[in-house]
Amino acid sequence: MAKQLTPQQALENIISLSKRRGFVFQSSEIYGGLNGCWDYGPLGVELLRNIKEAWWKSMTHRDDIEGLDASILMHPRVWEASGHVQNFSDPMVDCRNCKSRFRVDNLFESISIKKKRELIKWLNGQSEKINLSAINNLIGDNAINATQIVDRMVYISALLAEKNDSTFGFDFDNFVATDDSILASLLCSPEMSCPNCGNKGTFTEPRQFNLMFKTFVGPVADDSAAVYLRPETAQGIFVNFKNVMDSSRQKPPFGIAQIGKAFRNEINTKNFLFRTREFEQMEMQFFVKPGTDEEWFERWRATRMQWFADLGMQPAKLQWHKHEKLAHYARAAYDIEYQFPFGWGEIEGVHNRTDFDLKRHEEFSGKKLEYVDTATKERYTPYVIETSAGASRSFFASLCDAYTEEEAPTAEEGKTETRTVMRFHPRLAPMKTAIFPLVNKDGMPEYARKLFADIQKHFKAFYDDSGAVGRRYRRQDEIGTPFCATIDGQTLQDNTITVRERDSMVQVRISSEKFGAYLSDKLLSD
Ligand code: GAP
Repeated sequence: MAKQLTPQQALENIISLSKRRGFVFQSSEIYGGLNGCWDYGPLGVELLRNIKEAWWKSMTHRDDIEGLDASILMHPRVWEASGHVQNFSDPMVDCRNCKSRFRVDNLFESISIKKKRELIKWLNGQSEKINLSAINNLIGDNAINATQIVDRMVYISALLAEKNDSTFGFDFDNFVATDDSILASLLCSPEMSCPNCGNKGTFTEPRQFNLMFKTFVGPVADDSAAVYLRPETAQGIFVNFKNVMDSSRQKPPFGIAQIGKAFRNEINTKNFLFRTREFEQMEMQFFVKPGTDEEWFERWRATRMQWFADLGMQPAKLQWHKHEKLAHYARAAYDIEYQFPFGWGEIEGVHNRTDFDLKRHEEFSGKKLEYVDTATKERYTPYVIETSAGASRSFFASLCDAYTEEEAPTAEEGKTETRTVMRFHPRLAPMKTAIFPLVNKDGMPEYARKLFADIQKHFKAFYDDSGAVGRRYRRQDEIGTPFCATIDGQTLQDNTITVRERDSMVQVRISSEKFGAYLSDKLLSD
């Protein structure tokens, strides 16, 4: 019987297990860590690879999608064409006195409610400067007064932190356009003091700072050599559209799939792996004839939701979120959300991006990015249906989805203990099997070692001969190993082993020779 944990407890336990068992470590931990960056440990890297492998197979083991691995550094014009240089930004302010720079949301988070009230009081006196209807539109209700603005500002700060992520269905672009005035008014209040030098009323107006990491190619660090670490993998696909189409003799409808690292200098990196500065994406752009885009959009929506379900994710923890306000290039956008312990969060976006990206790259590069039918002479710029999943977020969702604590019987009659089980889908499980000699004598270790060596050639396996078998099962349950095999006295007589299934804890006796086939069967069929 699964134990009910509070969301906070569940999250704490998942983070603690991740470190203890080697799924995830803090980046550069011995130096105090680097915010927004995480390292995948021995088990984490297996799980992550299994997720990526499942995605890669589902995308490229078909004849209408090709794979790609584009470079992380790209020509800087790519990011002008994509709109990232201009639009991919967060508002920040400088203190005119001490020259310190602050992210606006951090600044608001850092000040006390008392201080906020003072600011609001001041703002209220300046009410002609505030666009109250903009706040109302943002929050979605009609009644607001000066004191309520305190809460609204806290909320707005949270929304700011969600920039470039539609977890809250929030159109940040519109907010910036209409509501910088509110932020500016607050920050320019004579009550607002700089957390660094303590001077009041010294802030500049909020200005946009780009979220892309900038670096330089070659030895000279000036702007002519500036390049960016890609903030998404998609642009590598767009700029290679013609190369892939021509070299692979594809024609629309066809897709290009890519898995790779992306980097964003995120303002707010909270919630463990949810929002990080370095992460991996699994993106597929499907190029279709204009006019067929809506049909393909619906097909891809269904396919992508099914993919998560096929990997064993609990259907009740998955939902669609429709974007009501669309980015300028999108005709339709939906997110697949997972119910994390801290709430619903996007794990994948499915977007109808129209011909925006190819047209922009045509404009900026001067190269035609069209499909031309040589027989009919028909030509068009394809529309793009994008499926954009986070590998790192899918990993985090898999951890949360698998994590279970339950009361299980112990070897001692009538007693129970808490069993922590990672109920990973067998295809995702980092270890597929563990092999145990019941005791370390009578030829059992030799038999078990041989079986282990054979099995290891085909499956990620673990050998464990320490402690009681019950303890060994618990250790494997905690990392989600779906099948454990024990070699006992009977094995030496008739070559049979017991195989214990993780979730049901049911044990079956099978021939040791058939163990490999048994595992293959289970991993393929489940
Ligand atoms: N090409 C479209 C695109 O990049 P996005 O919604 O910005 O769209 C797609 O990102 C996916 O990438 C998200 O659904 C999420 O899974 C993942 N992602 C985005 N930002 C992330 C971050 N800072 N940390 C971890 N994953 C992130």
